[in-house]
Amino acid sequence: MAALKLCVLSSEILPYAKTGGLADVAGALVPNLRQLGHEVYPFMPLYSAVRAAYPELRPVARVQQIPLRIGHTEYRYSLQTSTFPGTDVAMYFIDCPALYDRSGLYTSDPDEHRRFIFFVRATLESCRRLETAPDIFHCNDWHTGFLPLYLKSIYAAEPLFAGSRSVLTIHNIGYQGVMPSAAAGDLGLDSIETRLDGDDLRYGLINSLKTGIRYADLVTTVSPTYASEICNGPLGMGMQGVLQARSNPVVGILNGVDYREWDPRHDPHLRAHFGPKDLRGKQSNKKLLCETARLDAAPSRPLIGMVTRLAEQKGIDLLFDSLPALLQERDFALMVLGSGEPQYVAFFEGLAQRFPGRVSFRAGYDESLAHLIEAGSDIFLMPSRYEPCGLNQMYSLRYGTIPIVRNTGGLADSVRHFDPAGGIGTGCVFNDYDVAAVRWAIGTTLDWFGAQKNWKRLMQNAMAQDFSWTRQIVQYDALYRELLGRQRPA
Ligand code: ADP
Ligand code: GLC
Repeated sequence: MAALKLCVLSSEILPYAKTGGLADVAGALVPNLRQLGHEVYPFMPLYSAVRAAYPELRPVARVQQIPLRIGHTEYRYSLQTSTFPGTDVAMYFIDCPALYDRSGLYTSDPDEHRRFIFFVRATLESCRRLETAPDIFHCNDWHTGFLPLYLKSIYAAEPLFAGSRSVLTIHNIGYQGVMPSAAAGDLGLDSIETRLDGDDLRYGLINSLKTGIRYADLVTTVSPTYASEICNGPLGMGMQGVLQARSNPVVGILNGVDYREWDPRHDPHLRAHFGPKDLRGKQSNKKLLCETARLDAAPSRPLIGMVTRLAEQKGIDLLFDSLPALLQERDFALMVLGSGEPQYVAFFEGLAQRFPGRVSFRAGYDESLAHLIEAGSDIFLMPSRYEPCGLNQMYSLRYGTIPIVRNTGGLADSVRHFDPAGGIGTGCVFNDYDVAAVRWAIGTTLDWFGAQKNWKRLMQNAMAQDFSWTRQIVQYDALYRELLGRQRPA
């Protein structure tokens, strides 16, 4: 007994497809679990963008043109594979053009629920046809929420899966995959009334994430603080009851950082490299960022950066009533990269028009610019309403870019408020989700920046933090083994 067979399902996996941190994390689980010696079987849908970017995908001979019925519609899918970069792991893609050849990863099309019910079913079918018996099916977020129920229903008598256990990791409880109960027919299950949540059904709904929470053998989430927040308060967003009803508690494991991608000592997106021992290159990146963003640069003028999905979760509403006043009162510049909801886009566009040379906004998704913002900014702003883990604050620490964060979820678990007198701490942490608090936090951090000796200390503290995956992955390893009742090999 040593290596485990681990089937990892995620709707997005780096480097193939990404809209947010889920892709970073799924893309890090694969090589890091492999590094521990496990057999890893990652699955994701073959979106058209992935097909276009990876023409070298190979068909898996035994799994071609497989019919699979969802409700009244029979689809056909084929399994494609390629080697996961930097590993010997075979990455598997569910190729079903009828469901995945769409303009984006996620859609608001009426068959959106089917796209992910299908993903889960096709993954299970593929394992069966490949005669692979995973010890663990590691599901991620609502897209994979029905898998634990399938294991305990349709596939309960499948000998291959007799020893399989399911783990569901919640990356964001704000997205639950709520569907009209008419979609229940698409699950292909009998006795739906007893299997799914009765209250939801009475309201004419079914809920993929809730189903996962009810049936998974283990539920984890991406930081210890978020684990407690979702079980015990409003951030559970209606899931508190099912989470508390579980026989084993939700486990919080903080995400790691892939320092091969995110380290200013060798980041290929930068103009100049730098590190804790030699910070000079940071100024050169600030200059480049200011040129790129048409911001009036000055080493003494602090530059605040943001890279974010523009969604309610991220706390942008707090900035509506704080940033305009702060920009009038204090001397700083702001660079924002983000995509998402129109009201936030309009807000930042308006701010850039009103404060030319001081505020720059780039709408859209830009990997390279995200790295340059981490490197060239002095301060990184993340005032999230809630944040299951958050990755950018951890990236910022490594780049000596001081994070301003709200005291929630993974932000609370990764940033410690700076105490200038004792010289301890890595950023600015504010508690209340209100305008006064964020104004205080930005003002305080600008004051610290003004006292350069303190600032250098703060940067050194930040850059010394280590959130590498090698530390975090062993926690998953231990959980899998505990669930399977197996010990670590000696
Ligand atoms: P979330 O998953 O909630 O969006 P995280 O902080 O966990 O938040 O992860 C966000 C990831 O997506 C980070 O790697 C960040 O750099 C990246 N990202 C977010 N928005 C953009 C953007 N507009 N352009 C480039 N990268 C982005
Ligand atoms: C989600 C969360 C984010 C987390 C990421 C990866 O998108 O919003 O906080 O870091 O998943 O787990």
